[in-house]
Amino acid sequence: MSPGQWTIAVLPGDGIGPEVIRAATAILQDCASEFGIHLNLIEYPFGGVAIDECGKPLPRETLDGCSKADAVLLGAVGGPKWDSQPLNRRPEAGLLGLRQALGAYANVRPIRLRTPLRALCPLRLNPDTKIDFEIIRELVGDIYFGAHTSEGEGTNERASDLASYSAPEIERITRFAFARARIRARRVTSVDKANVLATSRLWRRTVTRLAAGASDIAVDHVYVDNASMQIILRPDQFDVLLTSNLFGDILSDEAAALAGSIGMIPSWSAGDGPPIVEPIHGTAPQLVGQDMANPSGAILCVSLLLRERFQLPEAADAIERSVDTVLADGLRTVDIAEHGSRTIGGAQFAAEVQARMRQTFRQRRPERAQPA
Ligand code: IPM
Ligand code: MG
Repeated sequence: MSPGQWTIAVLPGDGIGPEVIRAATAILQDCASEFGIHLNLIEYPFGGVAIDECGKPLPRETLDGCSKADAVLLGAVGGPKWDSQPLNRRPEAGLLGLRQALGAYANVRPIRLRTPLRALCPLRLNPDTKIDFEIIRELVGDIYFGAHTSEGEGTNERASDLASYSAPEIERITRFAFARARIRARRVTSVDKANVLATSRLWRRTVTRLAAGASDIAVDHVYVDNASMQIILRPDQFDVLLTSNLFGDILSDEAAALAGSIGMIPSWSAGDGPPIVEPIHGTAPQLVGQDMANPSGAILCVSLLLRERFQLPEAADAIERSVDTVLADGLRTVDIAEHGSRTIGGAQFAAEVQARMRQTFRQRRPERAQPA
């Protein structure tokens, strides 16, 4: 990364991806110009649109562009149009291929119920209960990347998916989770199914071994079935939830519901290469082209990027505060509408966030403020 210059590979993808990425890039542009950064945004085809354009979900040009970038900003991939494609030619295969090629093994999913949205949490919460934890999902191993086979036909058909983990793969994600816990409340809950699965037994042994050398962190273990229940019963018990790839995929959708809408949740995937940020909501085919998508997840991705990749916490805070103010002002996209709020389109929601953020920036530099 050259100082003062960021190159971001932008992969809008399918469905509502382009709508929410448009909102995110506008926010990113403002932050870059406020902090004197030259921003180079380069868009590449990815997912279903890439299948349509170039015959594969992750074209060479896209992968090369991502590998050379300082970070990747991704929308979502997939949709009914490509559902009948074989597994290795689906848009999702492009996503898995990108994560793997960039070595993005650590996926951070912050689950936070923002104060203005408390009434939208499906749980009956005590007034002092906070939902604020982080799911650390291993992202490039497990059953997602083992052989997927099927043989035979009709009632004789059989299919199998291979789940496998090596000790080093579990070690690196565990270390990552411990490092996250050190900037939080120093508690890690590791999720597995060690009463049934060999991969989970290795997982638990490995986490236990590393925990023995990390006395500053309180580590405990839960079975995944119990974890899914505890997320609903007592979400405030969690600080960092460490999971394998498949368990993290499932538990993060469940946890996202507690934040009022899956549309609110960003994610950040770190590892060997440039990090990827992507909202976790998917392509939402039923919302496409109607300006109904909630851009918050994508906008909060920019905040994650600025905080974690570019060390600009001041800009990240400005984004988060602006989102909270828009929500507190009762302006909502349809997925987070509630009694007494005003439902607006995704584009206007993003413009409201942007206006408040610009306001914050003007206050930061009074000498640049326009005379009233
Ligand atoms: C996610 C998504 C992806 C996953 C799909 C689209 C392949 O559900 O990022 O959570 O399963 O990882
Ligand atoms: Mg998912």
